[in-house]
Amino acid sequence: MPKSIRPDYRKDLEEAARQMILIHRLDTLIKLILKTIIKNLEVTHAGLLLYDKEKDHFVATVSQGKEGFKLPTGFIKVSNRNPIIKYFNTPELQLSKNHRFLISNHVEEFLKSETAKKDKEKKSFFTQLLFQLNLYNAKVSIPGFFRDKLIYVSFLGRKKRKNNFSRKELSFLSVLSSDVVMAIQNAWYFQDLKAQVERNKSLFLQTVRALTAAIEAKDKYTFGHTERVAKYSLGITKEIKKIKRMPNKKWEGLQEDVRVAAFLHDIGKIGIPESILNKNGPLNKDELRIIQEHPLIGSAILEKIEGLNKPTLGIRYHHERPDGKGYPEGLKKDKIPLIAQILSVADSFDAMTTDRPYRKAFSSEKALTIIKENINTQFPELVVKAFFKYCKNNNI
Ligand SMILES: [Fe+2]
Repeated sequence: MPKSIRPDYRKDLEEAARQMILIHRLDTLIKLILKTIIKNLEVTHAGLLLYDKEKDHFVATVSQGKEGFKLPTGFIKVSNRNPIIKYFNTPELQLSKNHRFLISNHVEEFLKSETAKKDKEKKSFFTQLLFQLNLYNAKVSIPGFFRDKLIYVSFLGRKKRKNNFSRKELSFLSVLSSDVVMAIQNAWYFQDLKAQVERNKSLFLQTVRALTAAIEAKDKYTFGHTERVAKYSLGITKEIKKIKRMPNKKWEGLQEDVRVAAFLHDIGKIGIPESILNKNGPLNKDELRIIQEHPLIGSAILEKIEGLNKPTLGIRYHHERPDGKGYPEGLKKDKIPLIAQILSVADSFDAMTTDRPYRKAFSSEKALTIIKENINTQFPELVVKAFFKYCKNNNI
């Protein structure tokens, strides 16, 4: 860092660099960068043209300041052929060897010079460049390079006290520039990572849906069952968030797990003979024992998959009951994971309200009465409360 920088500049720079690297949102980051520039250099406004990797152009992201003008984010997009971008990308065009700044006054002086009069092509380029700089009211422009790639150009309006930029101030901008480059790279990295996670998640859910279709193809009585159980389960989860005042982050995690678990809750039926699944009439003791293996088969299929621990618990225990008379382990009350309790109510309601091989569908009213009558024996109280709220809000 140059010694000539004021001590408070140094402090501000360190503080800005520290904050910038922690910000992963580009828009927030740019606001902070511009705020730092405006505060330290007392300029009317500042703006930034940021490179968009996907589209290979630059976007005027934010410009702020009380005086001067404001640009809506993303309003102006400029290509690599824009004179400002071209200037920083072409060393032969630069007015001084030090291409860390472009000062508009220097462009004006150049246009009046003998060289400009002789070189028509250069004169035309610099006339266009000056026009562009005036468009942004830019008195000084500063590029930011990562390796040899130009990733942004920031531009500054005039000084509020109408004096020129000092060497110290230009040094400040130059030091800030390398921190800004690092911070932008960092934010891009996080953006890419987030997009990657989203892509993986969507791919995974598509796989889950394909598996669901495989289960439903086997069991003709469960057509649409998984979709409905997912819908009811997510509705219950929303109500539980309100009842328990669950923090957003915790709830979002629960919701994701519930969605996957609901789609896969009967995956274990893949291992059950079709003759039992589609039997016309009530099941005998042996058949019941075989069908009751499906939660264990399901959890055995999924337990090896990393990140599916909670959904697997939901699948394993979605036929448990608070009184301990459920299966496969006879867990009681709170020993049953919440995710399994949610599935249990949603699954039972849908089973009751659709036709089965051995009986016709119950009405929603009748099914809800049965659920209410069996609170704390077959159905957990909190989940039933949430389900009733969900049904009331959705006219079920
Ligand atoms: Fe089941």
